[in-house]
Amino acid sequence: MTVKIIDKRAPDALVVPLLQDDRLADLLADIAHRAGVDAATLQQDFRAEAKETLVLYAAGHSGRRFYLLGIGKKNTFSDILVALRSFCHRYKAKLPLRLGVDLRHFSLPEIPRIADAVLTGLSLGLYEIGRYKTAPATKPAPVFGSAKAELDVLVPAEAVQAVKPAVQRAHVFAESSKQILDLMNAPGNYKTPSMLADWVVQQAEKSGFSVRVIPVESIEKEGLGALYAVGKGSPHPPVLLLLEYGAKSRKAKTPTFGLVGKGITFDTGGISLKPSANMHYMKSDLGGAAAVIGAFMVAAQLKLPVRLVGAIPAAENMVDGLAVKPGDVIHTYAGKTVEVTDTDAEGRLVLADAMAYLLKNETPDVLIDLATLTGSIIRAIGTQAAGLFTSNDTLAAALSSSGDACGERLWRMPMWEEYGSDLKSDVADLRNYTGKPMAESISAAKFLEHFTAGHPAWAHLDIAGTAFGDSEFTQTKSATAYGVRLITEFVEQWAAAHQLSSNE
Ligand code: BES
Ligand code: MN
Ligand code: ZN
Repeated sequence: MTVKIIDKRAPDALVVPLLQDDRLADLLADIAHRAGVDAATLQQDFRAEAKETLVLYAAGHSGRRFYLLGIGKKNTFSDILVALRSFCHRYKAKLPLRLGVDLRHFSLPEIPRIADAVLTGLSLGLYEIGRYKTAPATKPAPVFGSAKAELDVLVPAEAVQAVKPAVQRAHVFAESSKQILDLMNAPGNYKTPSMLADWVVQQAEKSGFSVRVIPVESIEKEGLGALYAVGKGSPHPPVLLLLEYGAKSRKAKTPTFGLVGKGITFDTGGISLKPSANMHYMKSDLGGAAAVIGAFMVAAQLKLPVRLVGAIPAAENMVDGLAVKPGDVIHTYAGKTVEVTDTDAEGRLVLADAMAYLLKNETPDVLIDLATLTGSIIRAIGTQAAGLFTSNDTLAAALSSSGDACGERLWRMPMWEEYGSDLKSDVADLRNYTGKPMAESISAAKFLEHFTAGHPAWAHLDIAGTAFGDSEFTQTKSATAYGVRLITEFVEQWAAAHQLSSNE
């Protein structure tokens, strides 16, 4: 699809996103005039509720129609994105080869951000989840989604230049997010740790970042005993992926961000086996890894002036004669021993080694880990926000503000010392499960804290409720690509606010 920014000569088919504000009546009157319909009747019937859609056909003009699309009251990034995505999903089969989006009623300075949301939403609306269907498509592929399709974005003349970068930004975010959706929605047998490694290597080549794959032999030899233990019940051995983007130069003025993502390619629970109902959803237990990979893809393609170093511990948590058993004691990379009181609390184990490994080899200014870590965070705050755990107030504020801005929200949870006290073990330095079914997302965060080497700017994001869930686009739960935009935009904002002096 080609996207053009123009300020006149609108195509015949026009999508008009409309806010529910005091300008609505006038805008509708204008559209009624252009379509040759009665203004009062249109104003009565179309209220611009979120996702409300009305198609107007202009009498006497073949091909001319207006897709009026309600955004609701707030012109936030996510309200716009969600409305456009939903519209495109519902109408894609019918949309013509050449389509316009009329944004002439929006103005600077917010119009580039609006255009970004509109284009990202339209593009995500074309996402198809049925990757593994063999039947020939009964419906023809939408012409609007084809390479020949043309999308004209109409903006006021004075905004044409300012909107241009939004086109590339939306393209990069949407295409990367669709890759991440595919990864998350893929079944476990299509994404074993080594398949994940191959896939990340491919993405890295295309996007412009680098990856090192640490194989199981080195994981064992170098003493990543926690990652090794979690992976050893599977015939598909674990790997550690090390990602890098941006120059290491000591003269660099931008901060280095350490990003760690839980990459459990399937979580059966291990010997502490999960119940079978809904276990198939545990193919989504690499949501943290997916967010990290997505952020690398976007940062590299947009050539953001930052340095990112990433670590993804990838393993399949399986039931087997060789699997780690409840009560086993393992030696982590950081040197601490852990009594594995629950093999289903595997995420914190693999993250512990990945964080310790990253911190041994790099000195990130900020360290963030993302993980589909606990069911407990879903019981606590549901699916509207991910849990944010950090003792650093500045970092908490910055992450929350990035989350609010893009709609990938965060809600801060307490990190008081007392929450960690039940992690004491009689036989080892720590145990991985408290044995008490309460505040599990917090004790998980307190467990991770032991492996951050006291890093002053560490945050843990528990994305179990936001990475995968119910959706208007699918019959059962599916991926959201949560975190890709949150992390990328946080990194951009933090880097802009924390330029390091060049003689550091
Ligand atoms: N991958 C799960 C957490 C999860 C649950 C993610 C539901 C998405 C949806 C994690 O490995 C796990 O099993 N956590 C346990 C921890 C418990 C044993 C302390 C849980 O939440 O029950
Ligand atoms: Mn588990
Ligand atoms: Zn898990």
